[in-house]
Amino acid sequence: HGTSRINNEGHLEIGGVDTVHLAKQFGTPLYVYDVALIRQKARQFKETFEKHHVKAQVAYASKAFSSVAMVQLVHDEGLSLDVVSGGELYTALKAGFPKEKIHFHGNNKSKAELEMALQENIGCIVVDNFYEIELLKEVSSHAKGKIPVLLRLTPGVEAHTHDYITTGQEDSKFGFGLQNGQADEAIKRVREDDRFHLLGIHCHIGSQIFETTGFVMAIQKLFTKIKEWKENIDFIPEVVNLGGGFGIRYTEEDTPIPVSQYVDVIINEVKKQVALMDIPFPEIWIEPGRSLVGDAGTTLYEVGARKSVPDIREYLSIDGGMSDNIRPALYQAKYEAVLANKANEPNKDVVSIAGKCCESGDMLIWDIPLPAAKPHDLLAVFCTGAYGYAMASHYNRLTKPAVVFVEDGDAQLVIKRETYEDLVRNDLSYKVKVKKP
Ligand code: LLP
Repeated sequence: HGTSRINNEGHLEIGGVDTVHLAKQFGTPLYVYDVALIRQKARQFKETFEKHHVKAQVAYASKAFSSVAMVQLVHDEGLSLDVVSGGELYTALKAGFPKEKIHFHGNNKSKAELEMALQENIGCIVVDNFYEIELLKEVSSHAKGKIPVLLRLTPGVEAHTHDYITTGQEDSKFGFGLQNGQADEAIKRVREDDRFHLLGIHCHIGSQIFETTGFVMAIQKLFTKIKEWKENIDFIPEVVNLGGGFGIRYTEEDTPIPVSQYVDVIINEVKKQVALMDIPFPEIWIEPGRSLVGDAGTTLYEVGARKSVPDIREYLSIDGGMSDNIRPALYQAKYEAVLANKANEPNKDVVSIAGKCCESGDMLIWDIPLPAAKPHDLLAVFCTGAYGYAMASHYNRLTKPAVVFVEDGDAQLVIKRETYEDLVRNDLSYKVKVKKP
């Protein structure tokens, strides 16, 4: 997929760069991002909105993978940015991202985080709960003008991959209930205080979704309420943000639809609803994370120890694991992989890929066919671009990998590999107490 192919030497190549050379130059484990593929996805989202002549913002959900270079790439493609912490906001500011296109999410933003957001005059705060409304009032003196606000609502639609469920009252830590009166109360409180400008509403129904039904149902629920608000309290949102969640293909079990199709369905349903109630067409915002970066990322590992459990399984260990990709251990997530230095060779082996962390659950892939594998071979695991590096940890005091961007035959280091010195940077010695006799 993307710009990946097998070159004349039988090596996996991404972005016109031989992955065997990348591993030599930058070491392993190594996260490699196919920049052309990220650009392609960004353009598909934007062009679909343009085709429909709908005012829109496509905000990259930077929790999927945030770094200065990534944020710069997002800006280069003209997208907006969704941040969920002071750290993600700081990264965006360091990268010089246009502040008015930053949206701040989260169910427990601190006072300091909100102050920072207001001081920097970012595009909007997605307010999650009543406590946050009060906290915003407390820090409102930092605002440059009115505080632009979206209200996060829980429409009672939850989508997981192929299933979607509707519950009358959403049981979730996020947002104001749409059905239980909380949304109405939040709108009232924000509108009666002239420090706020209520831009509109937001909802996010789930992640790694392959069906459009959940989005259609959420839109219908939101617009049923919008009709009520229009008639009863004269509130019509300027912005309707439908969150992210568009699924990608990790393995052949996954059957995503093109990103343009999600957007088509969303716009067509909003058109239908708007026509029914004669209101101005709202701006449609979305927040894709995984679908922008997920399949653009590949992790390269060096193969090490091999253990055979006769008649049962072959374990092939690599030089990373749950410390750089916790998704298999945490969600039983599945991945595909190849031997990048033997990409042309036929599969002869069935092996299970073990991480190097001291935990039996640190298995990246169970029972995959590969060419005969030896120590020092290079394993490439695909589709690790979202929630991989972003969820990396220092478990077992492993250092976080390096990240390179590849495009048109060029490789650029965008996050340096951590060093042991980095690991102890914030450690302080304990002054041992002298016991009194
Ligand atoms: N907007 C909001 C409000 C969200 O909560 C999320 C993801 C997104 C947008 C982006 O969703 P995406 O397009 O990436 O599906 N760590 C998990 C995924 C957690 C998603 C959390 N929220 C994983 O590795 O699968």
